[in-house]
Order: sequence, then C-alpha cells, then structure tokens
Amino acid sequence: MNKQFKALIISLLFFFIAYTTAADSSEFSTRPITDAEVNILERFARYSFLTNDQSISEVANWTCDTCKEITNDTKSIIVKPVKIPISVDKNSNIVDFLAYIIVNKQTKEIVITFRGTADLVNDYIADIGSFNLVKYSVKNPQSSRFNKDIRVSEGFFTVWQRFQSSNLTSTLTSFMKGFPSFNVSVTGHSLGGALGLFQTLDIKQNLPKAKLCFYGFNMPRGGNEYFANYVNEELDCIYRVVSKADLISRVPPRPFWVQPKGEVWIFDPHKQPYTKGAIVCSGNDNPNCSLSVYPNFFDHLGPFFGVG
Ligand SMILES: *[C@@H]1O[C@H](CO)[C@@H](O)[C@H](O)[C@H]1NC(C)=O
Ligand SMILES: *[C@@H]1O[C@H](CO)[C@@H](O)[C@H](O)[C@H]1NC(C)=O
Ligand SMILES: *[C@@H]1O[C@H](CO)[C@@H](O)[C@H](O)[C@H]1NC(C)=O
Ligand SMILES: *[C@@H]1O[C@H](CO)[C@@H](O)[C@H](O)[C@H]1NC(C)=O
Ligand SMILES: *[C@@H]1O[C@H](CO)[C@@H](O)[C@H](O)[C@H]1NC(C)=O
Repeated sequence: MNKQFKALIISLLFFFIAYTTAADSSEFSTRPITDAEVNILERFARYSFLTNDQSISEVANWTCDTCKEITNDTKSIIVKPVKIPISVDKNSNIVDFLAYIIVNKQTKEIVITFRGTADLVNDYIADIGSFNLVKYSVKNPQSSRFNKDIRVSEGFFTVWQRFQSSNLTSTLTSFMKGFPSFNVSVTGHSLGGALGLFQTLDIKQNLPKAKLCFYGFNMPRGGNEYFANYVNEELDCIYRVVSKADLISRVPPRPFWVQPKGEVWIFDPHKQPYTKGAIVCSGNDNPNCSLSVYPNFFDHLGPFFGVG
C-alpha cells in the first residue's frame, strides 16, 4: 500500500476519531495521582523505551543511556532479548519485532517490555486486515460468561502469538521459578503496549500466582468492549498512560473498539511536581480524561513524567 493512500486513510480516521466521543460521563470519576505511582510509572516508561532506539547489545550489556537511568548496578540486571522477524504488509516488508525480558534484582521485579513504534501502528492501521476483530478464546472458566463476544485486533494478536510461540514464554517461566518472590510487570509503548496487554493476560491465565502489573504508554485499542471488560475483570493492576492528546490511544475508533480501565491522563507533561499534571481516571475510555481534548500525533512519544 503506498504512502499517499496510507496518509489519506489516516487523515480520514483522524476526523472520524476526533468527532467520536464516549457517551454519558456520569459513571466516570477521576482522582489525583500519588508520588509513589509517578515514581513507578517513570521507571516503567524507561523500560518501555528500551526497545526503541537503543542497540540490542547495549541493552543486553546494560550500557545504554536509558539502562543507566534505571540503575547503574549492572550486576543486579539480567537481560534476554527476543527478536522475531515478521512480514508486516502485503509487500512482504519484514520488521524485527523485539521484546526484552529483564530481571532487576534491585527492585525485585521481572519486566517484559515490547517494542512499539507509531510507524508500525500506522502500517497496521493502513493494512485493512488490522481492522478485523477476531475471536479471543479465554481459558479461565471463571470468566467464561464473557466467552461469546470477546474480539481482538487480528493484526496485533497475530504478532503477539509469534512471541507466544517463541522462547519468550519458556524464558519467562524459568525466571519466575528462579525469582519466585519477584513482581512480574509487562510494559510497552504504542504497539508495544497492545502486545504487552496480550502477554499480561496470558501470564494471568497460565501463571495465576504471579504478582502481576501492566503498564501501557500511548497504546492503541486492542479489542472490543467485551475484551475491555474482560481485561478489567482479569487484571487488578493496570495503568494505561496517555500523554496529553495522543491520537494513537484512540485508534481504532469507538464504538467497536474500546480501551480498558486504568487510564492515567498526563494533561500537562511539564508541570512540576508531576503529580500536579496527571490524574487517574476510572472506567473504559473516560470522557473526562484524554478523550476530552482534540487528538494529535505530536504527543505520541510523550514525555511521560520526564521520560521520552
Ligand atoms: C466530567 O466533566 C464534566 C464536564 O466538564 C463535569 O461537569 C463533570 O463534573 C466531570 N465529572 C467528573 C467525575 O469529573
Ligand atoms: C556486550 O558487548 C560486547 C562488546 O560490545 C559484545 O561483543 C557482546 O555481544 C555484548 N553482549 C551481548 C549479550 O549482546
Ligand atoms: C547512573 O550514573 C549516571 C552518571 O553518573 C547518573 O547520571 C545517573 O543518575 C545514575 N543512575 C541512577 C539510577 O542513579
Ligand atoms: C531463543 O531461541 C533462539 C533460537 O531459536 C536462540 O538463538 C536464543 O538463544 C533463545 N533465547 C533464549 C533466551 O533462550
Ligand atoms: C509488587 O506488586 C504489588 C501488587 O501487584 C504492588 O503492590 C507492589 O508495590 C509491587 N512491588 C514493587 C517493588 O513494585
């Protein structure tokens, strides 16, 4: 698909999305964000940016700039990169999808971070296949009442399945055995967030004892309203950070695509202290948070609490 046609589709989407808002705001609430939450989200924003422009060997050796901002104690870190080449469009362009599994003995956490760039999301948006919602099967019988209608993005889910069938799962399982008391956190920016959410649900279903949290940054919608409600039911700890008026967080559009709970809206990224520039929002697609402002592409890379 050529660039002009892609740009046209994306512009059309832009207008559709801008004028598609959520319904009634009475069921939604907001609260201030705490210092502790800002500190955690700042750390996970860094983890989520490790996959973008830094060289794999620098991350693996923990010598990259963002690595040092997380910790200088190289001995407390173990990193396993997982790289999967996938054809992203009908012209068979190959993109290396990337994730890292990181053990941080200092903070006692195992982190899985997925690569995501706006370019990759655009490829999927422009590729008609990505608008397909495909059935998502739930293993957990407690949630079987949701079984019928849960649907997710075919494009995003297909990519994540390639990670699932890689050695990411076996590596993760062996780390969890090696460090049984550590928290397990999944993070990702943009497309990486969409992939990370599937990963988090998979861990919840297969390794239910894990102390599990998900941190997504400016991530697109990954499924329908039943999917959002399923995520809400399954995950106790979920933060979905939106920087100002980020457009990608609201594609594909409502009402067929819905974001789950957990929004943290950074309405003023430069406000100090950061707790004064962000709020935590209840519900799916809370209309009083990022949806209340006109969307743009420029906020997509953040910043998130000084990161980005
Ligand atoms: C949501 O926004 C509307 C309009 O700005 C406002 O009247 C309402 O009080 C807000 N609700 C909450 C829970 O903040
Ligand atoms: C660490 O860095 C060295 C030297 O730059 C490189 O040869 C090695 O492959 C790196 N290690 C990993 C795991 O990438
Ligand atoms: C690591 O060291 C660098 C350079 O001395 C410093 O700027 C950075 O803040 C340190 N990182 C942490 C997490 O303390
Ligand atoms: C994952 O598998 C690939 C090849 O299948 C191998 O090169 C790599 O070392 C494995 N990684 C881990 C962490 O086991
Ligand atoms: C570990 O996770 C739990 C909840 O899942 C959270 O309350 C706790 O703060 C986390 N610990 C760290 C060190 O992040």
